Amino acid sequence: MNLTIESGIELNDGRFIPRLAFGTFDLADGDEVTAAVTCAIEAGYRHIDCARFYGNEKGVGAALAASGVPRDELFIASKVWNDRQIDGTVRESVEESLRDLQLDHLDLLLIHWPVAGKFAGTWRIFEQLREEGLVRSIGVSNFRVTHLRELMAGGNVAPALDQMEHHPYLQDAGTLAFCRENDIVYEAWSPLGRGGCLDDPVIGEIARAHGASPAQIIIAWHVQHGVIPLPRSKNPERIRANARMLVEPLTEAEMASINALDKGKPVIEGIDPANFAPYLNNLSSHL
Ligand code: A2P
Repeated sequence: MNLTIESGIELNDGRFIPRLAFGTFDLADGDEVTAAVTCAIEAGYRHIDCARFYGNEKGVGAALAASGVPRDELFIASKVWNDRQIDGTVRESVEESLRDLQLDHLDLLLIHWPVAGKFAGTWRIFEQLREEGLVRSIGVSNFRVTHLRELMAGGNVAPALDQMEHHPYLQDAGTLAFCRENDIVYEAWSPLGRGGCLDDPVIGEIARAHGASPAQIIIAWHVQHGVIPLPRSKNPERIRANARMLVEPLTEAEMASINALDKGKPVIEGIDPANFAPYLNNLSSHL
């Protein structure tokens, strides 16, 4: 396996998705996010993961417009936040994303969280937006197996992708297996455990053996599992380093030792898709 940042996976709708994405959560709108996305594109990233909730799509759009990279070489994803599902302004949210990103279509649109009683209706609008060509592929985020089953029972189009919190310290084997069985691509948010997995001694030892950084080892572990990680950084050196895929794949034993690090530990206690209600009214900026 000789993967590079240009490698991709075929989604269940036949479209291509790059195997590595750049995450834009927690980057301030304006110069900070524009500089980070510009650096990421120069480093070779073509897949940029955005969300209306991050409040920085204008800054991302400025970087995309200035990049000079042809639109069909970029893969731009965004998400619809919970309040827009609740107040029924899903289409408007997507139009605002397109306006700020300076695009006429998204490559991927995700339901950000499975708001109970709402996500089935949101999905019908997503299907419509896809028909109209405003979005190419549609998927979900933070959907566990029960949510996926409910969505798939009611919808006409199967979700192409599920974006979940996933890193060495939190591995939801059940949802990952369900996605593999149902041809749904699995994508990892906080793929480095929000930086918390980087000091792990097991990962450190593997990094030394490969002459690589711990972040590169964790990224390789995701990619070798067929999972798309979206590492996030404000630091140009780290943005560039994270884009360099390992030349030598991880051995089976190395993969197994990282698998064994699972602690079921989310980056923020209490953020659990299975129990959404407690934080519905607390739209924490950490989501
Ligand atoms: P920074 O922006 O200073 O680089 P995650 O993608 O799991 O949410 O993790 C993001 C966090 O990990 C950020 O705090 C980021 O900090 C840090 N980070 C990203 N890449 C690296 C790296 N290669 N080495 C060390 N820390 C990193």
